[in-house]
Amino acid sequence: MPKPGNSAASRDIAYQVHGYTNLKKHQERGPLIITSGSGVRVRDDAGNEYIEGLAGLWCTSLGFNEDRLVEAAVREMRRLPYYHGFAHRTADVTIDLAEKLISMAPLPMSKVLFTNSGSEANDLAIKLIWYYNNALGRPQKKKIISRVRAYHGITVATASLTGLAPNQADFDLPIDRILHADCPHHYRFAEAGESEEAFAQRLADNLEALIQREGPETIAAFFAEPVMGAGGVIVPPKGYFEKIQPILRKYDVLFVADEVICGFCRTGNMWGSQTFGLKPDMIACAKALSSAYVPIAALMISEPIYQALVRQSEKLGLFGHGSTYAGHPVAAAVALETLNIYQERDVLSHVRAMAPRLQDGLRRFAGHPLVGEVRGLGLIGAVELVKDRKTKAPFDPKQGVGGYLHDRAKDNGLLIRNMVDTIAFCPPLIIGADDIDAMLAAFAKALDATTAWVGESGLAA
Ligand SMILES: Cc1ncc(COP(=O)(O)O)c(C=O)c1O
Repeated sequence: MPKPGNSAASRDIAYQVHGYTNLKKHQERGPLIITSGSGVRVRDDAGNEYIEGLAGLWCTSLGFNEDRLVEAAVREMRRLPYYHGFAHRTADVTIDLAEKLISMAPLPMSKVLFTNSGSEANDLAIKLIWYYNNALGRPQKKKIISRVRAYHGITVATASLTGLAPNQADFDLPIDRILHADCPHHYRFAEAGESEEAFAQRLADNLEALIQREGPETIAAFFAEPVMGAGGVIVPPKGYFEKIQPILRKYDVLFVADEVICGFCRTGNMWGSQTFGLKPDMIACAKALSSAYVPIAALMISEPIYQALVRQSEKLGLFGHGSTYAGHPVAAAVALETLNIYQERDVLSHVRAMAPRLQDGLRRFAGHPLVGEVRGLGLIGAVELVKDRKTKAPFDPKQGVGGYLHDRAKDNGLLIRNMVDTIAFCPPLIIGADDIDAMLAAFAKALDATTAWVGESGLAA
């Protein structure tokens, strides 16, 4: 292989494998190299500035230069750069963060277990669900229900929960004991003339039928994001969780709320669980927990689950789980400072004040010839592009319409994420009215350019 050039781009191609990237294309196209950030903007190595319309990966809630988080990290790095949670030990700041999270939980939770990513938090939830049912003497009750288009992570178990084909194809996933229920996307999956409520009822009936078919004694848990993120920013239809939750209770099925994106103000409440009246037994959170400045995630568990862990670990001699970096003091200090900032600056009120500007602004594209649906709430939203508005027919994914729009948005100083032809918006929570307007204006230009290209290329219906 020839020696790579000295440019960062050629060294990137030579030495790094990127996630969620067409690896062949990357060899020709190379990376976008981001070198600095400030507020809601980041800058690349050529000096171009972009609004980060997805807060990185739905995560940099406080923007890209929050000094208090930097200082919290430096302080803790000097004071206690590392400690762990094995064998009765811990760092003091990790206790503070656990207490803070429990005090903020959307409903009474008992304990926190820390991990380093959202995937690991959900993976741990699966392990605890199995451990719990063994503790209760129910070795058959192990199957876990997720949903088509869910995103719960990329470990072997959580990629199995994730209901998206590219996360499973040729990775030999899903593993067994994982089931997928319907995706609650009314626009895509409702029958002609079916109301949101009727659609929600049908999905709830299907869920109950699935549980009965498999045998309720085999079904352990149901995982759900309050609003599905990577599956396309899917807001559940009216009445959905009201109809789902009684079924879970009826069959003694644990409910895990995956708040990895929705947690910490994103949907207009501190938790997505509050927005949709969820009563989960476990809550996974990550991302905005530390404004993504350092990796940290958490799983909160209810008292009955904790009590089962205690009994089982007593029986076995120890709770055989833990990892080197879980509850890392530097990450804990940054997360604690992040949560303090949310409260001191009342970030929630800011989100509520800005949400209509984003949501109304996005809905102004609803009549556009390329737009099938606009959806969202709080400071998360999406625009779904279609080939034919009447029939809702999508473009052939190979035509790369969403990718084309993504690139034109970038040309106009906006970084967004296209999930095939659904364009997601999830800016830092600190975004102000002017930057929301700038983001929407850049998107409008990109959409116009895409419309012209679709026309010229003969891709239109
Ligand atoms: C809802 C949800 N759960 C879990 C994850 C996985 O988190 P991580 O990428 O930190 O492993 C993500 C990541 O985007 C997510 O959106």
